[in-house]
Amino acid sequence: MNIQLLNQNISDASTDISLVYLSTESLKKSKNKKALKMAGFTASGDSICFLHDKNLLVCGVDEFSADDIRSTTSVAIKALKKTNYKSANILIDDKALIPALVEGFVLGGYTYDRYKSTKTKTSLKNVSLIYTKDDYKQAIKIFTDAVIIADATAFTRDIVNTIPEDLNPPTFADLAKKLAQENNLDCKILGEKELAKEKMNAMLAVGRASRHDSKLIHLTYKPKNPKKVVTLVGKGLTYDSGGLSLKPGTSMVTMKMDKAGGCAVLGMIKAISELKLNIEVHAFIGAVENMIGGDAYKPDDVLVSRSGKTIEVRNTDAEGRLVLADVLDYAQDSVKADYMFDFATLTGACMVALGQYTTGVMGHSSALKHEISKASSTSGELTASLPFNKHLKKQIKSEIADICNISNKPYGGAITAGLFLDAFVREENKKKWLHFDIAGSAYTESPWDCNVYGGTGAGVRFISKFLQGVI
Ligand code: BES
Ligand code: ZN
Ligand code: ZN
Repeated sequence: MNIQLLNQNISDASTDISLVYLSTESLKKSKNKKALKMAGFTASGDSICFLHDKNLLVCGVDEFSADDIRSTTSVAIKALKKTNYKSANILIDDKALIPALVEGFVLGGYTYDRYKSTKTKTSLKNVSLIYTKDDYKQAIKIFTDAVIIADATAFTRDIVNTIPEDLNPPTFADLAKKLAQENNLDCKILGEKELAKEKMNAMLAVGRASRHDSKLIHLTYKPKNPKKVVTLVGKGLTYDSGGLSLKPGTSMVTMKMDKAGGCAVLGMIKAISELKLNIEVHAFIGAVENMIGGDAYKPDDVLVSRSGKTIEVRNTDAEGRLVLADVLDYAQDSVKADYMFDFATLTGACMVALGQYTTGVMGHSSALKHEISKASSTSGELTASLPFNKHLKKQIKSEIADICNISNKPYGGAITAGLFLDAFVREENKKKWLHFDIAGSAYTESPWDCNVYGGTGAGVRFISKFLQGVI
């Protein structure tokens, strides 16, 4: 499906069907109100109604906000793809709504059928947004950027949705190399030998029982005169069985998504490089598989991390933080950044705290958290801050090592995980660092907003928005 922005002069106006948006209020003034009433349509949010004889698809919104437009467009595109219409258009006079429409069509209409023997077919070939105002040039820029960000989000979804047989640490590294070639990025991959040389024993321990070699992926986007330098770190657990602290069967299903942080940082560097932002971006991914076996690391082990800090392992299912501890340490030695953000499906506790739609944000800089909150509220993603405190920090003390990989109390698990990572962030970087727990927001088994079954691409839209704003 192709999506384009036209202005009234260049649109030939011929289309199979047009989408129109109505609220309960504007429905009262609609010339189609009789027909819509007969169809039982009240224009409530996310409801749609075809008026086939008028070549119209009417979409309900509670209010004419970007959030409502994105959501109802997602419902509309799914229905539209099942019809025999080949082309659709929409008249728009507010360019601020262009990103929401693009996200609704591209992300709401996203499907993943790699493992289906019969691929989904659709007659719909073209969607045209027709912009009715004069500042078409500005609108085109908004549209082009929105398509880049939506495509990068879909790219992230594709990787998250790939099964662990096809997407394991070595194939993750291959995929990163391919992206580097296509987008002109530098790419450095460290295998287990190099990781051992780097003394990344925490990361290596997690991957030891896997038949796949662990990989550290480092991609760089370097424009000529960058205004800022950003380090992005992603948890790339291509499968999390829990290790010897094995997950129960039902919790293990969906754990292919434990690489979503790594997939998100790939999507982010893809988006930033295609937006040609004047920001140097470093994406680091710890790609590891957490399995069981005679060689597996175990509860009671003490690991000497790259930083020199020793970690008492009390649960091998709290593995993401071990990988990130080493990758964060490596990243801080490799790059002097203005911002350091990590993304991880780190804790079930984050979903308990915030629900499954919201990304948990942790860090020491209130100002930076505020900026992220502003960016996310216009990006269509949900984020909320989870505050650190000194009492929770005590819960990850160890009797025998410098720190323990789990808390000694059952509450505040998302924050204690964040505080564990904090122990590996150097003093000079404390205010530059934020941790994003995407355990809930990265994957869904039922559609919501513009998300469909599987990976959501969480992080890509709000970080792109944030970085677009910093220069
Ligand atoms: N990958 C999981 C966290 C997770 C759970 C992500 C559910 C998405 C959905 C992580 O490695 C993990 O297992 N965390 C444990 C930590 C615990 C052992 C302290 C958890 O959340 O139960
Ligand atoms: Zn785990
Ligand atoms: Zn995990």
